[in-house]
Amino acid sequence: METQLFNKENMPEAGALLRKGELVAFPTETVYGLGAIASDNAAVKKVYQVKGRPSDNPLIVHVASHEIGQYVAEIPNVAKKMMEVFWPGPLTLIFNAKPGVFAPAVTGGQSTVALRMPDQDLSLRLIQEAGFPLVGPSANTSGKPSPTTAQHVLHDLGGKIAGVVEGGETQIGVESTVLDLTDERGLIILRPGAVTKEQLQIVTDQKVWMNDEVKVLNPEEAPKAPGMKYTHYSPNQPVILMRADWSIKISELLAEEKVIGVLASDEQIAEIEIKDEIIPYSLGSRTDARIASQRLYAGLRYFDNQDVDVILAEAYPKDGIGIAFMNRLEKASSAVYPQ
Ligand code: TXA
Ligand code: MG
Repeated sequence: METQLFNKENMPEAGALLRKGELVAFPTETVYGLGAIASDNAAVKKVYQVKGRPSDNPLIVHVASHEIGQYVAEIPNVAKKMMEVFWPGPLTLIFNAKPGVFAPAVTGGQSTVALRMPDQDLSLRLIQEAGFPLVGPSANTSGKPSPTTAQHVLHDLGGKIAGVVEGGETQIGVESTVLDLTDERGLIILRPGAVTKEQLQIVTDQKVWMNDEVKVLNPEEAPKAPGMKYTHYSPNQPVILMRADWSIKISELLAEEKVIGVLASDEQIAEIEIKDEIIPYSLGSRTDARIASQRLYAGLRYFDNQDVDVILAEAYPKDGIGIAFMNRLEKASSAVYPQ
């Protein structure tokens, strides 16, 4: 199959492909998603198949407006507030599903459904052209970093899907915050993203928890986070998360004749004596975790195509979007240095 490219000039054609049951990837403000019409079970099954995604890991449904009454069992008041403040934007909300609305494959057998309204004109246009909400898991092969450019999508899925809408580099670079509204214990962040716990807490009197806080409180009953048990974001080479002492680690690796990829801030790269065995990729200034998040997956993918034996990646402070950045980097890493 030849994968067609689309842009803002020919969106109706992309919508027509979706209506025929084909898959079309699209840019959002976070990462590129792999679109299929969320009521078309055969198309949704194809999404799992081309990604190589386990069938019990449910998909996010992307909507083009706040009018979601027809798609969910009920809209709690807290959801109304969250939508008003954060939609369109990088916040996915988990609702109780209304039976029979979306294809069974969307929710992977759960009674809940994840909805989000992306803050990207091309994705909103595509949903409108399709005439129905679209599933949109990240448009990568399962286990690879999420795609932040159309080229990344083509690298993983070119020839396997009908189309890609080109929208340049995505703004945020890490996937949306996923907030569960259906847990009796409170509002639980299943996946950190650009919308932070502090921002969510301002909007509501109900307590907002991080996933791991709930696990500590109540270990027998872990929050429902089906995607979290799978390994994510694993590049081809081992990644070591660097907290300090770069020169010691680098000398060690050079003595073992290793070629080293360095994924780090400009300030950190400036401190390293660059030679042929060291290949840097900049995450921008150390003072801006937003740029680091935007570049993270492109950096991991860059090293996939380089002859490096190991990647040293810089740890950032865990605040603001730094929490999401570190969450993804920790999943990609096989070790921390110093331990
Ligand atoms: O930013 C994003 O969210 C991107 C863009 C394309 O919108 N999409 C994305 O989709 O990251 P995906 O499929 O790669 O991640 C969806 C996450 C998974 O961790 C999944 O387990 C969780 O959302 N999820 C989906 N439905 C759920 C549900 N009903 N209950 C709990 N978690 C759910
Ligand atoms: Mg994903």
